[in-house]
Amino acid sequence: MSTPIVLPDYSMPPETVPQFHPAHLDPMEKVALRNEIKALLAARDAVLIAHYYVDADVQDLAEETGGFVADSLEMARFGQRHPAATLVVAGVRFMGETAKILSPEKRVVMATVEAECSLDLGCPPDEFEAFCRQHPDRKVVVYANTSARVKALSDWVVTSSVALPIVERLHAAGEKILWAPDRHLGHYIQTRTGADMLLWSGACVVHEEFKAKALFDLKALYPDAGVLVHPESPAAVIEIADAVGSTSQIIRAAGELPHKLFIVATDRGIFHKLRQRNPDKRFIEAPTAGEGATCRSCAHCPWMAMNELQQLARSLRDETGMAANEIHVDPEIGRRAMVPLQRMLDFRA
Ligand code: 13P
Ligand code: SF4
Repeated sequence: MSTPIVLPDYSMPPETVPQFHPAHLDPMEKVALRNEIKALLAARDAVLIAHYYVDADVQDLAEETGGFVADSLEMARFGQRHPAATLVVAGVRFMGETAKILSPEKRVVMATVEAECSLDLGCPPDEFEAFCRQHPDRKVVVYANTSARVKALSDWVVTSSVALPIVERLHAAGEKILWAPDRHLGHYIQTRTGADMLLWSGACVVHEEFKAKALFDLKALYPDAGVLVHPESPAAVIEIADAVGSTSQIIRAAGELPHKLFIVATDRGIFHKLRQRNPDKRFIEAPTAGEGATCRSCAHCPWMAMNELQQLARSLRDETGMAANEIHVDPEIGRRAMVPLQRMLDFRA
C-alpha cells in the first residue's frame, strides 16, 4: 500500500489574486458597443450565454438578443440545446469548456480566455489524478468549477444547484465519496447528507472572504433582514443563513421569502437580477471586512469582471479576435468528461 497523500492547502493566497478594474465607459460608448455586439451576434449565428455575476450590461444584452442569463447548470443546458453555430459564453473558462464538451460541433468563444476560477486553478489535474488513484473505493464527485481534464477523471460532475440531491442519492446507495475542489461546499454537503466524503482543499476567493462575525453584527443592526448565502462560503457564514443555495436558488429564495431586506453573501454581480426581479425589496452586501479580513476581491470575482463590453466586441469583431478567444478541449478528454456531465444533466431528484 502506498503512503496516503496529505493534501496541501489549495486555496489561493490573497496576494496572488489578480486585481482587475473595468474601464469606465460613458453612456454613448456603451450604446455604440451594445449595438455593435448585437449586429455581430446576428452576423455570426451566435448566442450570448451569461452568468449572473457578469457586468449588468452584458446580462441585459444576452436577454435582449435571445440569449440567456443563468447559473452554471442552466448555462450548460441552454448551450447544449440552442441551435446557434457559435456559443458566446460570458463567465469564466470552466463554463466555456463545459459548453464545448457538451457541444463539440459548435464554436465556443469567450470575452476572454483569461477568465479563470480559483477552484479550477486549485485542482491541478496530475495531482488530482494521483489522489483519485489512492482512493479507488470512492466515487469521484467534482464541482463544475474544474478543468475538462479533472471532469474527465470523475464519476459525477455537479453544480451547487444539484450537488445535495446527487450526493444524497450516492450516500443512500452506500457509496463513499471523493469530493473536489471546494472544501466549504464539500463540508456543507457532508454536514447535510451525513455522507462519507474525503474533501480536496480548494476555495473560492470571493466566498471565502465573507466574515461570520461581521455578518452577525450587521444582522443585529437589521434584525428583520433575511440572509442569503452561496454554499461556497465558510460554515460559520452558512449557519447564519435563511436560505443557502446556488445563484439561481438565491434569486428564487429572494422572491419567495417574506423579508423586504436581504443581506447577500455571494458575488455582487447577482444584485442586478435580484433588484430587477424584486423592485420592492432591498439588498445589501454581506461584509468581507472585519476580524481577520484579507479581502482582495471584495465580493466581486476578478475573473467574472473581465467580461466587459469592449472585450466582448473584440472577441466577435473579426476572425483574429474570435480565434484568440476560442475555447478548445482535446476531443478524447472531452468525450470522457461528457459522461459525468451528461449524468448530471440527466439527473432527476
Ligand atoms: P452557480 O452554479 O451557483 O451559478 O455558481 C457558480 C460559481 O462560480 C459560484 O461562484
Ligand atoms: Fe470561481 Fe469564485 Fe469566481 Fe465563482 S466567484 S468563478 S467560484 S473564483
